[in-house]
Amino acid sequence: MATLPQILPQALIRKKRNGEALSPDELRAFVAGVTDASIPDYQVSAMLMAIYFRGLQDEELAVWADAMLHSGDVLDLSSISRAKVDKHSTGGVGDKISLPLAPAVAACGVAVPMVSGRGLGHTGGTLDKLESIPGFSVNLDIERFTELVDTLGVCLIGQTAKIAPADKRLYALRDVTATVESVPLIASSIMSKKLAEGIDALVLDCKVGHGAFMKTIEEARELAKAIQTIGRAAGKPVTAVLTDMNAPIGTMVGNALEVAESIAVLKGSGPADTRELTVVLGGEMLYAGNVASSPEAGQKQIEAVLDNGKAAEVFAKLIEAQGGDPNVVESPDSVLPKSRAKYDLVAKESGVISRIEAQEIGVAGLWLGAGRKRTKDEIDPAVGIELHCNVGDKVDPGTVLATLHHNERGLSEAQDLILNAFVVGESADVPTTRILEILR
Ligand code: URA
Repeated sequence: MATLPQILPQALIRKKRNGEALSPDELRAFVAGVTDASIPDYQVSAMLMAIYFRGLQDEELAVWADAMLHSGDVLDLSSISRAKVDKHSTGGVGDKISLPLAPAVAACGVAVPMVSGRGLGHTGGTLDKLESIPGFSVNLDIERFTELVDTLGVCLIGQTAKIAPADKRLYALRDVTATVESVPLIASSIMSKKLAEGIDALVLDCKVGHGAFMKTIEEARELAKAIQTIGRAAGKPVTAVLTDMNAPIGTMVGNALEVAESIAVLKGSGPADTRELTVVLGGEMLYAGNVASSPEAGQKQIEAVLDNGKAAEVFAKLIEAQGGDPNVVESPDSVLPKSRAKYDLVAKESGVISRIEAQEIGVAGLWLGAGRKRTKDEIDPAVGIELHCNVGDKVDPGTVLATLHHNERGLSEAQDLILNAFVVGESADVPTTRILEILR
């Protein structure tokens, strides 16, 4: 590795504060100082605030993200001959799409090396969902991970401390310095971890709406473009699918409940929006991996493996290989954990459901124990919310809106939140698709 120049952090902070661009050497030296902790928290924090206000030009962004990526281990999956494509979602309520998507894509011949995070706040994490399957382990070593990606075409593990350590420090400081909501900082954080998986291409599910990080389509486009800039510079194309995240995805929110819903999709049924997202994102992944001649042809391949049982078969093999009980695919009800109690929440007035606020539903799940308020909090895999009504449905007093699966924790807070989440009016604009825009 080339020797980096000695830098005075305050000189670089001043330069960025004044709106000047930093050189590649300066950016790399700063990230090196973040990684080895030779730059103290107060100077890293000041740089984050300067970037928050001044942004990073495309060239700076690509170098900053590359330096973060190479601050730790980068997996080498070049021994695996098939194309390796992953999906990243910016996070949504009820977003269980990785669970049906990864095995479906693998069943069509593209490998999916998925390194996921845990959920924090009101959106759940893929790892937490998988861990609700008894025995399932997300802590495999890299050799076993590589072997399963090669033989099964898919493996899902948790991030190790060795992946993008610069991001770990930067993210912790952003969290306490009001610098999380910055497009270049979000984009480089996501990409430093995703590119470390050794992928050839990435499909980004960029969520837009009340329940998402990006509230407007303009903000989502901006994030998608920043992520594409980093991908392009690294030679890893990124397709960005902008999707509607106003109402929760599917009908289930909560870890074991979402696994059950994912299995339904893997068996060719499940809610229409959950299947649509799986099919569209999967079609893009197959196209990016060169096993489909077009995204539409890819979608047909995904539909076929959902309907003919091949995707469910890969999921059962994956569960068995990662220590879980594969019978969950055949009979989810008898294998997945169940809450001790259920509560039916009913409508108080007549009308048409005009909105279901995803964020409120997500926070209600958090109160029941399905998510974490702090990183160290324990998840309760059995609890969650089963939605019975959708936008456009007519309700009367007494109509059951949702069933709360609970273990006597946070029930009254969850009830209030969910009742407020169902906005009852005179009419509704019923969305016909979750897909807003695709940027290739
Ligand atoms: N997800 C990440 O990994 N990083 C961010 O900064 C935001 C979301």
